[in-house]
Amino acid sequence: MKVALAADHGGFPLKAEIAELITSLGHEVLDLGAHQYDKQDDYPDFARYIGQAIQHGQADRAVLLCGSGVGASIAANKMKGVRASVCHDAYSAAQGVEHDDMNVLCLGSRIIGGAVADVLVRAFLGASFIAEGKYQRRLDKVLGIE
Ligand code: RB5
Repeated sequence: MKVALAADHGGFPLKAEIAELITSLGHEVLDLGAHQYDKQDDYPDFARYIGQAIQHGQADRAVLLCGSGVGASIAANKMKGVRASVCHDAYSAAQGVEHDDMNVLCLGSRIIGGAVADVLVRAFLGASFIAEGKYQRRLDKVLGIE
């Protein structure tokens, strides 16, 4: 899978570790920055880069980091075709894909550390959408809202 990855300054401390993990799991990382720590950068810019990568088919999924994961998910969900959520538990990180076709996992590096992020990213990338019955019907309704 091609996995886009981006972080503002709040998420930056976790970024390198997550890039390494994604690669070690056999996926291709599309690194959309930040490429260095910049306290003045803004999470909506990185959400936009991630959303565009999903929209243009440059990435199948994405991991988007900010301080809490909240701003990242709010901004990313403004973009058509993006289904993003903060998931700081493994059940949601997998079930969000299986039931809801979540394609962007948002994490807050001020909330979780590397070990928990590792579990969450593995759960997210290891899950597949159950494209049938009630799950497909609900996704179609979500797309209808969009
Ligand atoms: C940046 O300081 C911080 O506000 C941002 O990373 C994020 O936590 C917003 O939700």
